Amino acid sequence: MNQDEESSSELESRAELAVVILAAGKGTRLKSSRTKVLHEIGGKPLLSYVIAAASQVVDSPHIYVVVGHQADRVKAAVGETGACFVEQADQRGTGHAVQCAGDAIAGYRHILVLSGDVPLIRPETIQELCQFHLAEQAAMTILTAAPEDPTGYGRVLRKHQDSSDVAAIVEEKALTAEQRTVREINSGIYAFRTLTLLEHLGKLTANNAHRELYLTDMAGLLNAAGERVVAFELARVGEGAAPASEVLGANTIAELVALDATLRTATANRLMAAGVTIFRPETCLIDADVEVAPDTIIEPFVQLLGSTRIGAECLIRSYSVVENCTLGDHVLIRQSCILAESAVADGAKIGPFAHLRPGSKIGEDAHVGNFVETKKATLGKGAKANHLAYLGDVEVGEGSNIGAGVITCNYDGVKKHPTRIGKGVFVGSDSTLVAPVSVEDGAYIGAGSCITKDVPAGALAVARARQFTKEGWVAARRARQASLDKEAGA
Ligand code: UD1
Ligand code: CA
Repeated sequence: MNQDEESSSELESRAELAVVILAAGKGTRLKSSRTKVLHEIGGKPLLSYVIAAASQVVDSPHIYVVVGHQADRVKAAVGETGACFVEQADQRGTGHAVQCAGDAIAGYRHILVLSGDVPLIRPETIQELCQFHLAEQAAMTILTAAPEDPTGYGRVLRKHQDSSDVAAIVEEKALTAEQRTVREINSGIYAFRTLTLLEHLGKLTANNAHRELYLTDMAGLLNAAGERVVAFELARVGEGAAPASEVLGANTIAELVALDATLRTATANRLMAAGVTIFRPETCLIDADVEVAPDTIIEPFVQLLGSTRIGAECLIRSYSVVENCTLGDHVLIRQSCILAESAVADGAKIGPFAHLRPGSKIGEDAHVGNFVETKKATLGKGAKANHLAYLGDVEVGEGSNIGAGVITCNYDGVKKHPTRIGKGVFVGSDSTLVAPVSVEDGAYIGAGSCITKDVPAGALAVARARQFTKEGWVAARRARQASLDKEAGA
């Protein structure tokens, strides 16, 4: 085997492509105790979007996330994605972060570098960047964009206006007055030929405003070494449709909130395109993963959060907040309801002002009315609790009616206990059910009862003081009082 064959077979044995995501930085400009990449937009951490986009391009074992600041929390937050982690113990810059990933990436022919704080990047763009990089046979390819306001970003200095060859990237703080007019920014997203990168990566110096090793300096270094460095402009992606927001970063809370707004607008547009009516979508807070079926109507000021799934032809009225819930079809959520980690079956009616706490399962056509709170409560088909009730750790059978003001006393100060209410039960208003207790099918509970013992099927239970009535008592009392007053005055 001659040397050429040897090196080409060595190349063959290399995997083609890895993705490195830089996520070790603290995010000083956020002025937050939480590390930057764990800040959320659309209900999920910034980093989880970047990993999701990367995993559309390579399988997760080929994704290396560089972690450092609050590394354990970051790993815990995105661990289930299957991505690998590389530690950068001291955060000495973006170039240093890639140096820390040196061993991990050595076995790949090319790497893509993504930034953990640039969350809206689309997999299509990453793919196109990669293809351009391979076609240009470049050592480094920089994804660039030309946003309205380039302030704060590194600028890309092309060798000539009409060529994709890049001379250098200059960070905002080091810009000359003339360079400041350059609108083309560095997105912080790159493709590198790995061997060439690793050959020159050690040459980075911290001779800059932050005394850090800047990955951006690789452009000038590789260029000086006679390697090809090119820019790939975002506008080239697709039909020129990609907005610059795709590559905008989140360095400050204001930038984070702007990205959140962009993402939520996109989510609302996705749902509306699928047949959901959202009135005044700019007033609604809809998380990125929420799914809603066609012909459902969402009124202004609604929040749909987390993994919420809503069926078809539902109406979600204003000021309701629905988090991690599953709603069937034809569900009505009246105004100002709070639903968390609960399921609501087809045709059920909730609210106004109802609170479904975690573990509530509201059956088909069931009603949960004003000021009713449920927790770990299962309501059977057609069951009703229309007014002012607390239903906790309870199972309510099909067609049962829970009167106004009913309370399941599920807590004895130490432990929680269950209540079981069978089918077709009538619980009179203002009754308390002291758990553990069971009311069997078809039983009646008289209003105002305090039920402490099981009630058999078909029975009537009344547990309250008997009423007594004294005829003429009021007039007699008045007369007695009048004579006492007269004596006192005499
Ligand atoms: C960087 C670029 C800038 C570009 C911008 C695009 C550099 C020097 N500058 O600036 O040209 O326009 O991104 O958004 O690269 N990180 C680490 N370890 C570190 C430092 C940072 O992992 O030691 C991570 C951060 O967590 C972050 C990413 O690298 O996710 C970028 O770092 P950041 O400090 O935000 O760089 P910018 O100032 O935005
Ligand atoms: Ca940044």
